[in-house]
Amino acid sequence: MMQQSVVLVKPDGLQRGLIGEIIARFERKGLKLVALKMTTLSHDVLDQWYAHHKEKPFFSGLKAFMMQTPIIAMVWEGLDAVDTIRKLVGLTKGREAEAGSIRGDFAMSQSNNLIHASDSVENAKKERNLLFAQGEIFAYESGVDCLVYSKEELGK
Ligand code: CMP
Repeated sequence: MMQQSVVLVKPDGLQRGLIGEIIARFERKGLKLVALKMTTLSHDVLDQWYAHHKEKPFFSGLKAFMMQTPIIAMVWEGLDAVDTIRKLVGLTKGREAEAGSIRGDFAMSQSNNLIHASDSVENAKKERNLLFAQGEIFAYESGVDCLVYSKEELGK
């Protein structure tokens, strides 16, 4: 199924100069970029974004971390994009993440883990609506989808 996933480069990724490296990995995988911006995250957005972590002891520290600098917010599209992107990103704890994944290659920490990726199609929709206006998401024909996928996969 064609899906969208929301990816954030967190403040540690921005400070460490890894924005280009992270974007390059999604590009060369064959995913399609449909939205991209630099923005700051408000308390209100973070309360909703991390609602499932509200009772966790690290919640306030997590919010402070996510507000240290602006972040890069993106929407990537592709077949089964949610699971595919989570594989590229790797496990939450950087030092346990598989080598070859973004966290496996660049992160050591469980909290400063460089990047966020939606964990379900439902959360991707919620996150997209929290950060992007409709006009900031772009529908366009990819010039390489015909090479990245088979005709059958594209339903053509
Ligand atoms: P992510 O999985 O993208 O979303 C939840 C975030 O909470 C996670 O990345 C980390 O940045 C952070 N996090 C998860 N577990 C811990 C923890 N035990 N201590 C501090 N931060 C955490």
